[in-house]
Amino acid sequence: MNAINIAVAGLGTVGRETVRLLRARRAELKERLGAELRLVAVADRAAEREARALGLPASVVRYRDPLDMVRRAEADLFVELLGGLETPKRFALAALGRGKALVTANKRLLAHAWPALTHAARAGGARLAFEGSVAGGIPVLRALELSFSGDRVLGLDGILNGTTNYILSRGEEGATPEQALAEAQTLGFAEKDPRLDLSGRDSAQKLSVLAGLVTGGWLRPGAFPVAGIESVTARDLSFARERLGMAVRLVASLRFSGKPAAPAVAAAVAPTLLPLGHPLAAVRRQYNALLVHTASAGDLMFYGQGAGAGPTASAVLADVFVLARDIQGGLPGAAAASRRLRLTSPDHAVSSYYLRIEVLDRPGALARIADALANAGVSISAIHQDPASGRRSVPVMIITHPAERGRFERARKRILSLSSVKPAHCAMRMMA
Ligand SMILES: NC(=O)c1ccc[n+]([C@@H]2O[C@H](COP(=O)([O-])OP(=O)(O)OC[C@H]3O[C@@H](n4cnc5c(N)ncnc54)[C@H](OP(=O)(O)O)[C@@H]3O)[C@@H](O)[C@H]2O)c1
Repeated sequence: MNAINIAVAGLGTVGRETVRLLRARRAELKERLGAELRLVAVADRAAEREARALGLPASVVRYRDPLDMVRRAEADLFVELLGGLETPKRFALAALGRGKALVTANKRLLAHAWPALTHAARAGGARLAFEGSVAGGIPVLRALELSFSGDRVLGLDGILNGTTNYILSRGEEGATPEQALAEAQTLGFAEKDPRLDLSGRDSAQKLSVLAGLVTGGWLRPGAFPVAGIESVTARDLSFARERLGMAVRLVASLRFSGKPAAPAVAAAVAPTLLPLGHPLAAVRRQYNALLVHTASAGDLMFYGQGAGAGPTASAVLADVFVLARDIQGGLPGAAAASRRLRLTSPDHAVSSYYLRIEVLDRPGALARIADALANAGVSISAIHQDPASGRRSVPVMIITHPAERGRFERARKRILSLSSVKPAHCAMRMMA
């Protein structure tokens, strides 16, 4: 082929930069590929305006409706950068159903429609690539897909959300969560509605994509424990740093077990205390990182910018290049069968825990808290009470010895049901 025809849906933050890079790097991409990457169509509600602003020639067909484009455009490869779920899903299934290659950066689409997408790709003999969906410009997916082919991935621990990492690490420097969030929004990497980030659900969707890539199975978001950083306060950050020598990060974790043909996974997203010397504790501001634990290569860390127009467009363009090279080389499309993925019970995961509670200054209150932990089989490693200084309630920080999550959760619920304990609290696992 002299040219691979490309159609891009969504000319927003990432779509505009992808089109700009595709055109700016046209000559070098052509030289490396041996064929031109030719933009033939774009779709966006404001396609005409955006195409004009991007200086696209009249030969690039403009569609207002992406579904119209995916049915009609003469493209070999479609790029989905719309965001959302329903239209991207219909778009992706239509492209794959036509046997066309598809590139997307849409983690929500992948996390919620993984079985349908992989089935459609297989049925249509089509290729699907999604490097931009997790950790932006860091090439983690291709590394997981290819670089460990001769190895075995045992697990992953990742900082996959730049907004929460920015808030936590700016918090260590004295910024309030509100200040840090406003800064992140001004810098352009936090959503206007930050709830998906703060609640840990954005990290959970990315974890689902990572699990799918490693195992070939679907890790349904919502099927595993997810906690965000809403309950983490400045006091937790200072206590962690000054008293424990630890930093707080929102860590998304996977642990794999079972045979490759019948994989099992333990998954969790949780605010986590890490020793200051831990590689993930050094990840600050909007940066992302993924620590991969492998059987032969040991631990490897990937680090870089996890979002933003430039990093994400760079990943999207890399996907376009790789799929175009496969098309150009006449390689057959996706063939891997989708696997059933077994989830191991989160209750058996073992770690030490940090629990901060607000306790009313009443006789016997601490004894009842200690009883609740003992009754659940959780032993206390350390306990600290802030000075009352005239307040009716005081923060009490409890560090446990390693315990099963199920036991710790039972103790936490019992403690919060005590009349001397206020509902506001913070619970975090601790990593060695
Ligand atoms: N931004 C990042 O840093 C980043 C990082 C990693 C991954 N991603 C992913 O990349 C994708 C694109 O993100 P983005 O930040 O570029 O989003 P965006 O700025 O909102 O751009 C999306 C564009 O698609 C258009 N669009 C959406 N639905 C449409 C429809 N049904 N018909 C016509 N046009 C439609 C939007 O138009 P309207 O504005 O009129 O709706 C907008 O111009 C998302 O899946 C996102 O999760 C983004």
